[in-house]
Parts: sequence; C-alpha cells; structure tokens
Amino acid sequence: MCGIFGYVGKKSSAAKIVFDGLKLLEYRGYDSWGIAIKIKNKFIIEKHVGKIGDAKINLPEGDLGIGHTRWATHGGVTVANAHPHLDCTKSITVVHNGIVENFQEIKDKLVKLGHKFVSETDTEVIPHLIEENLKHIGFASSVRNSFNKLRGLNAIVVANAVSKEIVAAKNGSPLIAGIGSGEFLVSSDIVGIVPHTRNVIFLKDNEMVILGKEIQLISLPTGKKLSIRPEKIDWKFENTSKGKFQDFMIKEIHEQPLIVRNIAKNYSESLKKLANYVQNAKGTFFIGAGTAFHAGLSGTYFFSKIAKKHVNTTVASEFNYLEDFLTKESLVIVLSQSGETIDVVEPVNRAKSKKSKIVAITNSLGSTLYRMADYNVLLNAGPEKAVASTKAYIAKLSVLLMLTFALINKEERAKEILLRTAKEMERLLESKQVLEIKKIAKFLSKTRNIYALGRGASYPSALEAALKIKEVTYIPTEGFPGGELKHGTIALIGHGTPVIVFAPQDETYESIISNAIEIKSRGGVIIGISDRQSSAFDYFISVKDVEEGSYLAQVVVAQLLAYYMAVELKLDPDMPRNLAKSVTVK
Ligand code: AGP
Repeated sequence: MCGIFGYVGKKSSAAKIVFDGLKLLEYRGYDSWGIAIKIKNKFIIEKHVGKIGDAKINLPEGDLGIGHTRWATHGGVTVANAHPHLDCTKSITVVHNGIVENFQEIKDKLVKLGHKFVSETDTEVIPHLIEENLKHIGFASSVRNSFNKLRGLNAIVVANAVSKEIVAAKNGSPLIAGIGSGEFLVSSDIVGIVPHTRNVIFLKDNEMVILGKEIQLISLPTGKKLSIRPEKIDWKFENTSKGKFQDFMIKEIHEQPLIVRNIAKNYSESLKKLANYVQNAKGTFFIGAGTAFHAGLSGTYFFSKIAKKHVNTTVASEFNYLEDFLTKESLVIVLSQSGETIDVVEPVNRAKSKKSKIVAITNSLGSTLYRMADYNVLLNAGPEKAVASTKAYIAKLSVLLMLTFALINKEERAKEILLRTAKEMERLLESKQVLEIKKIAKFLSKTRNIYALGRGASYPSALEAALKIKEVTYIPTEGFPGGELKHGTIALIGHGTPVIVFAPQDETYESIISNAIEIKSRGGVIIGISDRQSSAFDYFISVKDVEEGSYLAQVVVAQLLAYYMAVELKLDPDMPRNLAKSVTVK
C-alpha cells in the first residue's frame, strides 16, 4: 500500500520523472498523491486529493524529487495528510509506506522540542526526527538512527535538499533502487525503475541505500557498508492498456480463456516437480489472502477429491498463530497475485525461520515472495491492474487443478479438462450470455444485501462471488456453505432477498437445490448458476458441465455479475473505494 518513488541525477526533469513513476505505482493506493522537488536548499511540494487520472503538475524543473501515492492509514484523506512531509526547515522531506506504531510517543517528544506539525499522519514524525538528529550527526546517519527508532514494518525515502541526496530504508514493504548513467532512482515496484534502467538492487529488510553522487548500501542495525551487487533485469514488462474495453476488470475477465490454455499446455513439467515436493513433505499448507485464500480453499477440495490428499488452507494473516507445528519437513505453498502482500510475507518469514520449504505461486516475477521461495510457479497471467482480482484467481485454480492431477500422474487429464474449460469460458463471454448476466446485474444492483451459496468445491466459488460483489459494488454480500444455511443465515432471508446458488453437476447438486428451495419458500430470489434449469431458480445462467473445470467457469459468471453491477451503479470497478491492489500494510 502506498507507492513511493524518488529520482536524483543529471536530468532537470525530476518532477516529470517522479510524476510518471507515480502513475505506474498508483495501483498501490489512490486516495491522494504528492511530489517534492528540490529548488536550491529547500523543497517545493505539490499535493492533491484523489486519483492521479489525467492530472497535470505545476512544479518547477529540478534534479532531485520524491513522490508518493497514498492509501491512508493515520489521518484522513486530505491535502495536508498527503505525502511528502517536511521538517521545519523544509530541506528534509519524506515519503513513507507502513505504519510508525510508536509515532505518538516520538511526536510528543518532538513537540516538546519545538517542532511544528501540520498533518495528522504518523509519517510526519520522521522528517522532524531526522532534523533533530541532524543537529549532531550527518544526514545518512540521521536517517539510520531515526529509522531504527521507528516501530512497525516501514519503508521510507528521505531527500535532503542541502546535501542533494536521497536515502531509502526498509524493514517491510518493498523498495528497489535503480542505477542509471549519472542518475539513481528508487521505487516501491520494479515497474517504476525499468523505464530508466535495468540495473537494480532489491533492498533487503534492514538495509538502507544512499543515492547522491554515488551509491552506498548500509546495514541498518550495524551501520556498516555492504557490498553492492546490482542485478541486471532481463524480464519483459508488458505495457497494458484497456484496448477495446471500458475497464481493466472486464479486459482481464476476457483474458482468462487464454491464460487457462497457457497453463494447460505448458505447466505439466513444473507442476510435476512441485507434486514431488508435496509427496515428500510431511504436511502441506496453502496460505493466501482474500481471493488468493479462496483459490487455496478450492485447492483443498481438489486435493481431497481427486488426489485423496489432505492439505491445510489458512487465511495468511491467521497462519502466524497456527505455525507452531511447522518443521523443516513442512511445505508451505503461498498464493499471491502481487507476491507482496504483507499478511503473506510475514508468516512466510516465520516459516522460513523454522526451515520449512516455501513454494510461491505468484503472478509477479522478482516480487518479495518470489525472492523468498525455494520453488516458484509463475502464473504468467500478465499484469493485473483492476483491484478486484479475476484472472489471477482463475490462473491459480488452473495451476492447483493441474498440480492435483500431477499428484496422481494424470496431468494429461487436467490438460484436457482445462482446455474444455477455456472453451466454456469463451462461450460465457459471448454476447448472448452477457445479455442475460447484465439483466440479472441490473436486478442485483438495486438490492440491499446479497447471499451466495455453494457446497463442496463450490463453497470457495460462493466466497469469491461475494468478495467480488462487495469490492466493486459496496453492497453487503455474504458467501457461505449451503449446509450452514439453517445454522443461522436463513434468518436473514425475506421477501425478495437475492441468493446466488452454485449448483454444478457433482455430489452437491441435490443438497444445494434443496437449500435453494428452502430459501425460495421464504421469499428469496434464486439466481441459479448450473448446467441445468431447475424450478428452484428465478434467474438461471447456464454453465456447461466441464467436470472440475466447472468450478472455474462458474466464477466467471460471478465476476461478470459483479462487474456489470458496478457499471450499473456507475462505480469505478478498477479502483474501488478504500482498497489498493497491493496490501503491504498489516
Ligand atoms: C481480490 O479481489 C482482492 N483485491 C484481494 O482480496 C486480494 O486477493 C488480496 O489482497 C491478496 O492479494 P495478492 O494475491 O496480491 O496476495
């Protein structure tokens, strides 16, 4: 969460360079943004509330600048709270990603010393603390000393207009330094660096980099110089545009058949290898957050049903409290589109300290989790821009399905199922089906709360449908297993309450239809997603039976419902309120 970017070097277009960098990082937080440019010995700052969109900047030329796109933690969404923040002299400025847990304590001391604060943020203590330290020691040491006093998981970029230097330090969120010719950059994501240079350093936790006339890497705990070994990045970066689509979300939904085909055709070998890891492990765990957790949960059903193998799936942030039994023989398979989610990175760190093997199934080459893992499976789904994850979910499910079949040496069977699934997805995306889905979306967008129901491997589909609808429409939606209906939720069903029911052709069919009838008898309106019509359904969307592939195809319908509901409600499906694409704050 929050994108940070900095430039120092020979060019005088720092403002434009930082501005363009921020546009690439906006997915990390988009409630406000700002840029600081060095003019002589001070910084000039421009800040705005809202998304960058088509904004223009009004900053002078300069050769040093830092910028930030914010996802608010401490302090409301206001211009004053937007970063960068300044010290009292206006010669030190800071952008920050994370939470300074002890900010109040530090602030109280600084106020007593006469420092003036203009925002409600935790971040603002950092430039003032550095200013205070600068009275006794040099700039880099002041940053180090101040950073070491901050509690929490933080990444900061600090610029000094007097020494014309940038210092970046981290112990949580990602930071990457770029080494250009006569210039240095720093960014929360490699995408911000590659337009300038492919010579980079991925900062490790507890490291600090000094960028000025030259570059130095310093250990934050000891203050000792570390040797610099830049990496040459030769990966391809896809430039994404919406193309013929109105929004990224719908574009990404349409990309899914291609992604499923790619996995079907090209992943047997790497998943065979991963299957071996699973076979040899004493205990396999899937962890992920949000949509990635739902993918893991689907994997649990696949493993059990197809490979007769047990796997534990946990919400990543809860895994911290369930790790006591991990050993060096445990296998932790992490699922993450971004590879940066702090709720996933944290338990992985702990699992690593217990020497457990880590496998990362991510969509982001070079991301934190990618770098932490012992074995990687890249989803190759292409950049996912919409905050609501769609194609990464389907890619994860395709990988997990194939992995499951690899466990019983039947990858070819998985391939055949996935190829049929891709075809069915294409059919669902055709205009005839979409017309029906739009009609239902119109009805749903006028309702106050929605339920989604599934059993077995369709239970994760119900959770995912609910999450997609919540994220992009802000309509309270709850997903739950059909069997739980009578244990509480049925009390909420009244006249006209919409319930989405996943009823594929599997062992859950009869029970879930019974649930649908029970809801209908109480006035509920049933939206059936199934391969066959039923008298229990008020609305029906047909998804052909593609065996285990049905658990993928039926979610495409839910994604489309959520998207067209957002369109109906005139909401931005790509950047929903309060959310960010990469969650790097606990
Ligand atoms: C999905 O629609 C959400 N935006 C969110 O739940 C997401 O899946 C979660 O934050 C995990 O992200 P990751 O896959 O990048 O780790």
